Amino acid sequence: AGPCDLYASGGTPCVAAHSTTRALFSAFTGSLYQVKRASDGATTNIAPLSAGGVANAAAQDSFCARTTCLITIIFDQSGRGNHLTQAPPGGFSGPSSNGFDNLAAANGAPVTLNGQKAYGVFISPGTGYRNDATNGIATGDAAEGMYAVLDGTHFNGGCCFDYGNAETSARDTGNGHMEAIYFGNSRTWGTGSGNGPWIMADLENGLFSGFNTRNNPADPTVTSRFVTAVVKGEPSTWAIRGGNAASGSLSTFYSGARPNASGYNPMHKEGAIILGIGGDNSVGAQGTFYEGVMTSGFPSDATENSVQANIVAARYATTSLTSGPAVSVGSAVSFRATTACCTTRYIAHTGTTVNTQEVTSSSPSALKLSASWTVVAGLGNSACVSFEARDTPGSFIRHSNFTLLVDANDGTKQFNEDATFCPQAGLNGQGNTIRAWSYPTRSFRHFDNAAFVASSDGVNTFDVADAASFNDDVSWVVGSAFA
Ligand code: AHR
Ligand code: AHR
Repeated sequence: AGPCDLYASGGTPCVAAHSTTRALFSAFTGSLYQVKRASDGATTNIAPLSAGGVANAAAQDSFCARTTCLITIIFDQSGRGNHLTQAPPGGFSGPSSNGFDNLAAANGAPVTLNGQKAYGVFISPGTGYRNDATNGIATGDAAEGMYAVLDGTHFNGGCCFDYGNAETSARDTGNGHMEAIYFGNSRTWGTGSGNGPWIMADLENGLFSGFNTRNNPADPTVTSRFVTAVVKGEPSTWAIRGGNAASGSLSTFYSGARPNASGYNPMHKEGAIILGIGGDNSVGAQGTFYEGVMTSGFPSDATENSVQANIVAARYATTSLTSGPAVSVGSAVSFRATTACCTTRYIAHTGTTVNTQEVTSSSPSALKLSASWTVVAGLGNSACVSFEARDTPGSFIRHSNFTLLVDANDGTKQFNEDATFCPQAGLNGQGNTIRAWSYPTRSFRHFDNAAFVASSDGVNTFDVADAASFNDDVSWVVGSAFA
């Protein structure tokens, strides 16, 4: 059985079922998600390898070879048509065209399920999915349940990495107009114990960890790589549950009365579905989503426990975040451009500014040093790498406003993540494309001899101009350092 077969047996059927990694009904053979590639704008749908099985990631890999792909639709497997697509502007605008949010890179969150590769949905700040015209999702004070499987190590304090029920207007229409899973370490509203991240409920104008609006010490900091997050609500009562999605059982972090603030009892749910954003399209959060559902009716703990056992049996595990020629920790490297204009230019820096410069073995030693980098374990994720300036120990290549800089490591989570890159096989077939860990749609690109993390789906000049040279501009021969 799949998770939704278990919810159906419990009398609380799935009315939305979303996953890019696997079928959530044992008989499901339809499309899980759609990807769109940059090279020609074509789309394709990715289905499970077999009924109830894991997504056919190999089909995505071949469709997306030598180009970039975005996840354009996350299909609803419940049959109700509650698909998730690029979120429109609401109370806040997203960074893409016409105020829409960004779409996720199709290969930003690789994992394996029972040894088979699949891809999750890697939400960078600015990315979001939504459906404002749903069928069968709870409204008003009606009962519902939901779970999501998430990456417990990918989070931030921005508002709001959510999955669940939100406003149909994408605007903040008041307390109690949402009921969604939240995951992250925001301290703006509620908190749990420790430093976070926490599973909380976004009920609008507040992230809630329990009855008290500020803190519930029984809501623990999540420490597992894969996390199962559960929120459910019915008239007067609600609950938060959670556990390690790769082993063990669920615990109840809160179960009881609605929060002690006005507007949350009764609830005023509107029945839209959001992923990766707040109800008003706040787009500051990050996180990774693998699968999740919403039910009609308040699921029993026993039903959720059987769903957790099913998730554990799916055996989520990590896999390599890099591809292409190895960029090895401990080596000292240079990055040579491969665009026809510029094959004698290397990534270098002038103070904090990263650029490309002509460098040869007979260049002055200061210039050679400025184009030489030590590869260290990724400051924000040790499965990827960071690049320390050979001439300025303690300073690293990082992006800020999508521009590459060499900055001193200030030790913050933001710096560490901005300085972490996951080398991929070069998009033009040469060397490596150096992808930003925290923005997997973005990679090192030289443009007018300056250096950025660019996306062919972005809106900046360095993203969209000279589209024909994009793949060359983001492909670098990683060779030995000059010094
Ligand atoms: O409740 C927290 C957030 O507050 C909601 O997600 C958003 O709509 C509002 O800004
Ligand atoms: O480069 C994109 C973002 O810009 C970085 O993550 C952040 O440091 C800055 O706001």
